This record gives sequence, C-alpha cells and structure tokens, in this order.
Amino acid sequence: MIKDLSVDHLLGIKQLSAEDIEIIFETADSFKKIINRPIKKVPTLRDVTIANLFFENSTRTRLSFELAEKRLSADVVNFSASSSSVSKGETLIDTVNNILSMKVDMVVMRHPNPGAHIFLQKHIDAKIINAGDGTHEHPTQALLDSYSIRERLGEVKGKKVVIVGDIKHSRVAISNIYALQKQGAEVMVCGPTTLIPKYIASMGVKVEHNLKKALEWCDVANMLRIQLERQEIKYFPSIREYTLQYGLTKEILDSLDKEIVVMHPGPINRGVEISSDVADSDQAIILDQVENGVAIRMAVIYLLASKIDKKS
Ligand code: CP
Repeated sequence: MIKDLSVDHLLGIKQLSAEDIEIIFETADSFKKIINRPIKKVPTLRDVTIANLFFENSTRTRLSFELAEKRLSADVVNFSASSSSVSKGETLIDTVNNILSMKVDMVVMRHPNPGAHIFLQKHIDAKIINAGDGTHEHPTQALLDSYSIRERLGEVKGKKVVIVGDIKHSRVAISNIYALQKQGAEVMVCGPTTLIPKYIASMGVKVEHNLKKALEWCDVANMLRIQLERQEIKYFPSIREYTLQYGLTKEILDSLDKEIVVMHPGPINRGVEISSDVADSDQAIILDQVENGVAIRMAVIYLLASKIDKKS
C-alpha cells in the first residue's frame, strides 16, 4: 500500500513533515534496489506523462529527473527555455498551459524566480515538482543529501552538519536547513560574513566564520559552490582569498582528530571550494549523492503520481 504524503506537490521542504521525508526515504530504498538490478525499469507509471521544464541551466537535476521518469516508464517531454517561445514573449502560465493541453499530468520545473512554483500551482491542475527556484528552494537536492547522510552514517537525527560557502545565494542551503532540522540534525552555516544572510540565525542554525572551528564541530561538511552568476557585487576580494579561507583541503581534513563526511551538490569548482584530492577521496560521498538523486526523484514522482485523478 502506498503511504500518502501530506502534500499534493513538492514546492519546497518547508511544506513537508518529518513523516513525509521518512515516507520518501522508505520509497527511495525500494527504488534504489530496483535501479541496481540488471533490469532497472518498472512499468509503474506507464499511463503518466511528465514535462520537464527547465528555464535555467542544469546537468545533474535534469538528467536525474529524466532518468527517474524513464525508470518508472512514464512518458517524458523536455522543454528548455533557450529553445522555446519564452524568448518571443510568452508568459509562464501560457507556456505551461499550452504544454498541459497536450495531456501532461506532472510538471518538473526549474525557474530563476523564487516562488515561481507556488504561483504556478495556483493556476494549473497538474502536479508540480520544484527542481530549483532561484535562491529559494531545491527540495529534491536536500532530500537526496539527507538520504545520503542516512546511508553513510545510519541516521540523520543527532548529526551535526555544517553547510560551507555561499549561503546567501543558495537554494540548496535553505532546503537543507529545513530538511536536516525536520529530521533532528543540528545545522551550522560557515562562510564570510558577506555571504551569510542576517535572517539565517532566525532559522535556528549556528553561524561560524572560521572553517577549522566549523569542521571540528561537525560530522558532515556540505561544501557549496560560489554562485558568481547570482552575484551583482563583489562579496570577497578574490577567488584566491576565498579559497585560502574557506577551501576544503586534505591538509585541513588530516588536521582534525576525526573523520568527517564531505558532500557537495555539484557542480564542483575544483581548487576553489574543494580540492581535487578531497573531492576524489573516500570521505567524499559526492557521486553517492548523484546516484541517490535518481532513487529519491523516482520516489517523489511515484508518491505524487499516486495522487493524480485520472478521471478528471
Ligand atoms: N545540484 C544541482 O542542482 O546541479 P545542476 O544545477 O547541474 O542541476
């Protein structure tokens, strides 16, 4: 029997309960077994059509969703803003409604505007999954991150997780904070003052500006990319200076009296926020995160698809 999520769409982690997250993880456990079998496909969503609408660049998320949909046997259509009629002045609602009139049941959307999914959900009937909205949320990334911590450390509850880097421009950081706290983890953010928004302390996270102290505190370090494409002004003197202060190197890891788990949502800037030897080390679970992303996205799609009313 399919356990019911409390939500009809995945707009953000904020709207999920701890029980929803557990249901998604239990479902992902089953799908992870399936995608590691010689026959990786199940016929579960043969009658479901999903549109992947990417108004912003993506490598991992887009491929991961498409693979998850195909592993579930859904029909898939892909849309990229750069090759669409959006550039001819079509509105978001018109674009999506035109796609939905082709009998699409579910929309996976990445959009540069924070809250675009919440707006869209009020205007269309299809199920919506947020694949990243501006600097707001990236819920499936946070789910796969927590799932990967659970896989490596046994559970998320009670673990200490530091998120390092460009918190100000990061939807990954916000979704991770919600997800980790809902599961009973302690969260710290670490980075230069200019890249840590003032409101973050009101989310109940610790703030630390010294990387070594943050690493001494944590069980897991999630290293974020500097999002230069979202920065209109200079937040630090130079990339070289940022790397000297906040780049994770083998030397710093070896100076700790414990072994921590290293994560990165990708894309990695090797030699900036993380050195190559750390990214490729056994302490890093970066490729496990990518693998788990497919199982997590299969679980989310499957659970939301079970709520589609095929009669209407
Ligand atoms: N982690 C992540 O969202 O990567 P992409 O931008 O490549 O999808």
